[in-house]
Amino acid sequence: MTVEVVDALQRARERTLGLVDGLPDAELERVHSSLMSPLVWDLGHIAAFEDLWLVHRFGGEPMVRRDLADVYDAFETPRPLRGELPLLRPPAARQYLYDVRGRALEATERHGPRDGVLHELSLRHELQHNETMLQTLGLARLECPAEREARVHARGTGLELVDVPGGTFAMGAGPEGFAYDNERPRHPVRLAPFRIGRTPVTNATWLSFAEGGGYERREWWSDEAWHWKEQYDITHPLQWSGDGREWRGGGWEPLDPDRPVVHVSWFEADAFARAHGVRLPTEAEWERAATWDRGTLELVGSVWEWTASEFGGYPGFAAHPYREYSEVFFGDGYRVLRGGSWASARRVATPTFRNWDHPQRRQIFAGVRIARDA
Ligand code: AVJ
Ligand code: FE
Repeated sequence: MTVEVVDALQRARERTLGLVDGLPDAELERVHSSLMSPLVWDLGHIAAFEDLWLVHRFGGEPMVRRDLADVYDAFETPRPLRGELPLLRPPAARQYLYDVRGRALEATERHGPRDGVLHELSLRHELQHNETMLQTLGLARLECPAEREARVHARGTGLELVDVPGGTFAMGAGPEGFAYDNERPRHPVRLAPFRIGRTPVTNATWLSFAEGGGYERREWWSDEAWHWKEQYDITHPLQWSGDGREWRGGGWEPLDPDRPVVHVSWFEADAFARAHGVRLPTEAEWERAATWDRGTLELVGSVWEWTASEFGGYPGFAAHPYREYSEVFFGDGYRVLRGGSWASARRVATPTFRNWDHPQRRQIFAGVRIARDA
């Protein structure tokens, strides 16, 4: 069978298995951070998702392991509880992935991929969990060659601005092809002219901010952000050592001045912007800047970019194909991130793709691009 999506499913699986290749079972089963699942949970969860959507819903067959559906349901069992669950042991989790994939491919052989939507759903789900797993590897300070090899360098500081004209543009994904429910429907948005950073803010620029009292000047922080920063004694980005080094892919490296700063929270990003007399872009501004002329924004896809916007549904939003992908997170103070990181698959991180997280979170590969009114 030479269907592109089937090929992509196989490549995603190689990536998934490659991330945990050679990791001892104990590392796979350990809860490395209260924010993250044990890596073996991600493996079982990827299999269970494909079991539901490709074997059962697409193929019309009973799930390979109906009995595991609840253990691997992200909504039923929040991340902090996942260490306590009767999870499959690593060899069994790998076997489950293998068995489900076999059944999914048989079903695809029988029916063809039809419109391909459920295959894309399952594929992008696995790719998104690859990024989650990379976050876990980073927090656990485990070996991560992909991160060490990611080469991203800005020509600039992150403070250089480019102009984007005002006007009305069509925001969101059109009706054709795959998109997540939260990217639809496409709708007109009117924007005033604005200016936006040509590149994300670099380590060098962030260091100047930190050394210039960035984490001490009360007036640069919102009440909520200041409270958070004080409570957790935050004085630099999550993976900085505090003495000029950064944890990257398995070791402490000297802080690379030209790399985009990463592992900062929305609270820190917002304080940084205030300190520079600018603000974060809204997600509409971000999408406009990224799509109106492809040369405007540099280094999109190096780090996720926090936006000023709270995560919610576009006018006319309809949950599809399940409410727990997006809708249950609307209106809960999550902030939208755009663009994708070095750890994101390009297939997922399109110009209309919306990521989201709590404003205090720093485990994601998130940095900042600034903006201001024209
Ligand atoms: C879109 C990255 C916020 O990880 O919670 C994975 C992606 N949804 N499994 C998440 C997702 C279901 C989601 N984010
Ligand atoms: Fe998931």
